[in-house]
Amino acid sequence: MATIQIEGVAKSYGAHQVHKALTLSVRHGECFTLLGPSGCGKTVLLRLIAGFETPDAGSIRIGEDCVSDPAAGINISPDSRGLGVVFQDYAVWPHMTVFDNVAYPLKLAKMPKPALRDRVMETIGLVGMTGLEKRMPSELSGGQQQRVALARALSAKPSIMLLDEPLTNLDANLREEMRFEIKELQRKLDITVLYVTHDQEVALAISDRVAIMDDAGQLRQTGSPWEIFERPVDGFVFNFMGIANFMPVRRVGETYLVGKGEQPVPWEKPQGDAPEWVAGFRPSDVRISRTGAGLRGVVKRASFLGAVVDYLVEVDGAWLRTSIETFEAISGAMMFTQGESCVISFNHLLWFDARTLAEVVKA
Ligand SMILES: Nc1ncnc2c1ncn2[C@@H]1O[C@H](COP(=O)(O)OP(=O)(O)OP(=O)(O)O)[C@@H](O)[C@H]1O
Ligand SMILES: [Mg+2]
Repeated sequence: MATIQIEGVAKSYGAHQVHKALTLSVRHGECFTLLGPSGCGKTVLLRLIAGFETPDAGSIRIGEDCVSDPAAGINISPDSRGLGVVFQDYAVWPHMTVFDNVAYPLKLAKMPKPALRDRVMETIGLVGMTGLEKRMPSELSGGQQQRVALARALSAKPSIMLLDEPLTNLDANLREEMRFEIKELQRKLDITVLYVTHDQEVALAISDRVAIMDDAGQLRQTGSPWEIFERPVDGFVFNFMGIANFMPVRRVGETYLVGKGEQPVPWEKPQGDAPEWVAGFRPSDVRISRTGAGLRGVVKRASFLGAVVDYLVEVDGAWLRTSIETFEAISGAMMFTQGESCVISFNHLLWFDARTLAEVVKA
């Protein structure tokens, strides 16, 4: 089985402990994305799995085999772990042609020449690069170079791929296209993928499961993209997964008032007796209108973004962002300009205790 199991892995550099006791498992055949802010330890973890670093404690298993376990004196070399790896900082070797880049792992494995040629050409075809095998990397676009890096990682037919931010250097359109291609390759080849990134859109688009890591290298939540987005366990996960509004609400006796004003919250109140609360919601969960029930506010900024119009709204000293589809805004007379009054209501929101933002409180 092409699985990865990480048990209690710790890794420090000098006094800096990157991972304390990390436990994580990637299932056979899934695309698992590890998402976390810059510096949280994603690359370190991939290097530990690939065998370029050794853990201080804990164990790493790939399929049935234990590949790292310092307590048991086990440390299998990277070449013997059977993984395909694309790292963020080195993509392709600039002094080798496309063919030679892709052939490299096979030469290391001493594959006979005719079989090697067939395999290289097959893999180059797989990533849509047929006809370009004699080119040097400097004669390729960024996206093509990325395809070569993928092909090199795939040529030895690994059953597990580790991908470290392979799309960061690409422009937005290409990045979008490539992430679907990676997903397609994963399905077609039926391989297990562990993908690390700080781009939540990539994670949502390609993953079967996502794990969110915080700055201290701790896993906050693991689940399907939908669960992580719609059912975040705490304010960190919520904030990390896209634009988040945090609206302050204060409790005065049994009444909950928004911002610094006197408008009571027109939705279900949280359970608990904290004095200060935060209501969390995404711009897409806010409805803006001219009349009707809701909170009265003022449009402070209106930005036309093409498909949507983005509004920054103030409600009694609390700020929030909302977006409305341009078509809907025009047809419903919801094109607001700066300074206009508006009414805000919500499809869905989450309650947090303002002192910690630690976990979602039930309404
Ligand atoms: N060889 C090393 N020696 C010392 N410190 C290191 C080393 N490698 C990584 N670190 C530190 O470990 C921490 C985690 O680094 P890592 O590269 O894993 O972050 P990351 O999550 O991949 O970030 P990014 O999203 O920016 O790529 C950082 O603080 C980094 O400075
Ligand atoms: Mg990194």
